This record gives sequence, structure tokens and C-alpha cells, in this order.
Amino acid sequence: MRDAGRTLPRNDPRQYDDLAGEWWRPDGAFAMLHWLAQARAALVPVATRPSAVLVDLGCGGGLLAPHLVGKGYRHVGVDLTGSALREAAGHGVTVVNADATAVPLASGCADVVAVGELLEHVPDWRRVVAESCRLLRPGGFLVLDTLNDTALSRLLAVHIGERLPTVPRGIHDPRLFVDARALVAECARYGVALRLRGVRPQLTGVLGWLTRRVRGVAGPPPRMVPTWSTAVLYQGWGRRDGERMLTDVPEEETVA
Ligand SMILES: C[S@@+](CC[C@H](N)C(=O)[O-])C[C@H]1O[C@@H](n2cnc3c(N)ncnc32)[C@H](O)[C@@H]1O
Repeated sequence: MRDAGRTLPRNDPRQYDDLAGEWWRPDGAFAMLHWLAQARAALVPVATRPSAVLVDLGCGGGLLAPHLVGKGYRHVGVDLTGSALREAAGHGVTVVNADATAVPLASGCADVVAVGELLEHVPDWRRVVAESCRLLRPGGFLVLDTLNDTALSRLLAVHIGERLPTVPRGIHDPRLFVDARALVAECARYGVALRLRGVRPQLTGVLGWLTRRVRGVAGPPPRMVPTWSTAVLYQGWGRRDGERMLTDVPEEETVA
């Protein structure tokens, strides 16, 4: 098990600096992010026009990059953590050092916005949703994954997950986990009808991975598979309505 290397509060972004060398180690502290990146990219449609842009909010080390090859996007990654962005840039991502709640990119610039394992790390996930939808062009595609705000999620992702070698200890603050129904409602306000499904790592794949990891043998990573419940880890995806613009949100609904 590996932790962030020094005692920092839960969800402190400096943990990502301490773990900067882990991003591209498939068996390292961010192993599960590799599996999730593959599952997220599988939902991204092939670009339908030249010069299409995918904005990856909270891109971290750019783990999505290899899974986007051949899909036809310029991959733009936005993150707060400079050390993570250096890793992402080394893997072909065009990087922007910024907060995902205030991204210095033009409205409607993105054909796809990807928000992978970010919402559960920000104090106000609604602001990230608003920013994601602002960046999306009408008809653009939103894809995300996050942890649900449930007791089961806190048990599996924090109390158990952070004791396994797949998740760094202290990386989550369970108070920030994202209620799935509230997320769907928030996206709807901006004209994105979000569809959800629960996902989990395939258990036989994880057991094989753990065994190989102990033996120091290489092998295929576990796959993420759909599961019937969104109570823990879930993916969401949907297109932004072609008509409804941010300014169409009724006054009483606007984000403060
Ligand atoms: C769990 S990692 C996920 C990284 C990447 N999306 C992936 O799945 O591999 C969370 C990332 O979000 C970044 N982050 C946290 N809060 C942020 C914020 N407010 N704005 C931008 N990035 C943020 C962290 O620096 C970190 O790289």
C-alpha cells in the first residue's frame, strides 16, 4: 500500500505532487484510474468533424490520451496540479493549468468534455458541471465518472478501497461525493440529459492483477464492467441540447 508520502488533509491537492511519479505506472497508486480511463474513452464517440476538441477537466497525468488515439480529437487537459500536467504534456496532451470551476477557454469550444474522477474532489461540483456545459458546443458530448454520495460508496471507496493498492490513502474526502440524482438534475438545467450506469472492476481481473502484482509479473489490466447499481462508482454521459443555451436557464435556477 502506498500513501501520499506525508501527512496531508484528506483530498489535499498536494497529494498529487507527492504521487507525480505514479501516474503512468500501471500497477502503481493510480492503477484504477488507468482502468477507468479506458472505460471512459469507450463512451467517447469518434469525432464527426476535423479539428474536433476534447476538453479533459481534471486530466491529471493524461491517462485518457492513449485511449483516444484514432478518435480524431485534439486532447486539451485542464488541471490545477502542475506536476500532473507535465506528465500529461509528455503524453501529447495540450495542457492548461487552471481550476475546473473557471476554465480560461471559450464557451462552446469543446466537442466533448470529459470529467473523469474529478467531481468528487472539488468543494462545489455544481460549478464544474456549469463550466463543463459552458465549454460544450450545442450538440457536444459530456462524459464523466464519479463516486456516489452513499454509505456503501464511503465504505467501499474509502474505508476498504484506500487500504488496497489501487487507490492512494487519503485521496478522497467522502463529504464531497456526488449524489447521482442531483447530478442528473444539475446537468438537465444546462440541457444535458445525462444517462447513468454503475461500473465496477471485473472481480476475476482484479484477483489476477493482485496476484501478478505480488509476483511482479506483467499482464492485462482488469476491465471495468457495468453493474446494476449506481450506488458506488458510476459513469454518466449525454449530449448537450442543440437549442438550449446557458442563458436559457430560468432566473430562479441559475447557479449563485
Ligand atoms: C483523481 S485525479 C483524476 C485524474 C484523471 N481525470 C484520471 O482519471 O486519470 C483528480 C485530478 O483532479 C485534479 N483537480 C482537483 N481539483 C481540481 C480543480 N478544482 N480544478 C482542476 N483540477 C482539479 C487533481 O489535480 C487531479 O489531477
